[in-house]
Amino acid sequence: MIRIEKAAVLGAGTMGAQIAAHLANAGIPTLLLDIAPRELTTEETAKGLTLESKEVRDRIARGGLEAAKKAKPAAFFSAETAALVSVGNFDDDMARLKDSDFIVEAVVENLEIKRSLYERVERFRRPGSVVASNTSGIPIRQLAEGR
Ligand SMILES: NC(=O)c1ccc[n+]([C@@H]2O[C@H](COP(=O)([O-])OP(=O)(O)OC[C@H]3O[C@@H](n4cnc5c(N)ncnc54)[C@H](O)[C@@H]3O)[C@@H](O)[C@H]2O)c1
Repeated sequence: MIRIEKAAVLGAGTMGAQIAAHLANAGIPTLLLDIAPRELTTEETAKGLTLESKEVRDRIARGGLEAAKKAKPAAFFSAETAALVSVGNFDDDMARLKDSDFIVEAVVENLEIKRSLYERVERFRRPGSVVASNTSGIPIRQLAEGR
């Protein structure tokens, strides 16, 4: 049996952000990652930010977290539980996966995208950590092929 002290959720969309909220509600510090944007918003440009700014690079995951904070019915038990979720992106923060006992993938329902993400997860995860998928319908056999 493993004890889950820390978790990571890959994909901060509808499902990923809410899964992160469930983990945080259970008292588990959770890293929430998503892709780094390829374009600046008008507001970011006006603020003088660039695509290299970490604030910009974490924008999509942070947006998912903010949406979960505002969700009705509430996703988080309290503001304190929401503080257990930290955000990042797939380019800069994969090394942080080594701290996670439980890694849940919740990116778009696309076999190739999920498989290429697992390839990267495999490089950074700690041996013994559990890697799970929130797929709606892709067989785990296909997702896990070759690993
Ligand atoms: N929404 C549901 O009701 C529901 C229910 C059960 C299971 N699921 C499954 O959960 C998973 C996520 O669904 P969702 O509804 O949260 O989707 P979503 O579209 O809300 O979120 C998907 C996330 O994937 C990210 N993404 C897009 N392209 C990517 C890429 N190339 N590489 C990595 N990440 C990328 C997006 O930035 C987005 O945050 C899917 O596998 C879906 O089938 C969804």
